[in-house]
Amino acid sequence: MAEDLSIIPGTKAEQYQSLIPQIKGLLEGETDLVANMANVVAALKEQFGWLWVGFYVVKPSFAKAPKGEDELVLAPFQGPVACTRIKKGRGVCGTSWAQAKTLIVPDVEKFPGHIACSSLSRSEIVIPVMRDNDVIAVLDVDSNEYNRFDETDQTYLEKIVSLLQF
Ligand code: SME
Repeated sequence: MAEDLSIIPGTKAEQYQSLIPQIKGLLEGETDLVANMANVVAALKEQFGWLWVGFYVVKPSFAKAPKGEDELVLAPFQGPVACTRIKKGRGVCGTSWAQAKTLIVPDVEKFPGHIACSSLSRSEIVIPVMRDNDVIAVLDVDSNEYNRFDETDQTYLEKIVSLLQF
């Protein structure tokens, strides 16, 4: 794989439909999770230009926390620097992890406990990455516009995270 990404204008669905086969090509034959996450967020950022797009991975917490308690830890992302650790049930990411479901937040200030990594963030979508029945990571996307994400994003982003090989 050595080609540039083909970035297209069009409806949101058309943009995802153009991107998905290209992401499949990027992931083909590669099983390293970090490498694959890095290319997925780079491709999404390049096509959509969102404020922030990145993964948080479920990992064992610092020794200070209660034993056996996992946390979300910052993983490949594109955008401004971000908070590194999120506890289960905290913020949009920790809630998506706890509930094992996609969350769409049209106005982040109205989400109780939202974690503001960037003051520019206005809306957000978080998609859990599943292995068997466990959440092993989440994909978090932030926009500097209100109400930027809907069911179309949910459908295609869930498809994209299901392509991750590891
Ligand atoms: N807003 C997220 C935290 C992660 S940053 O947006 C990159 C949340 O509430 O979980």
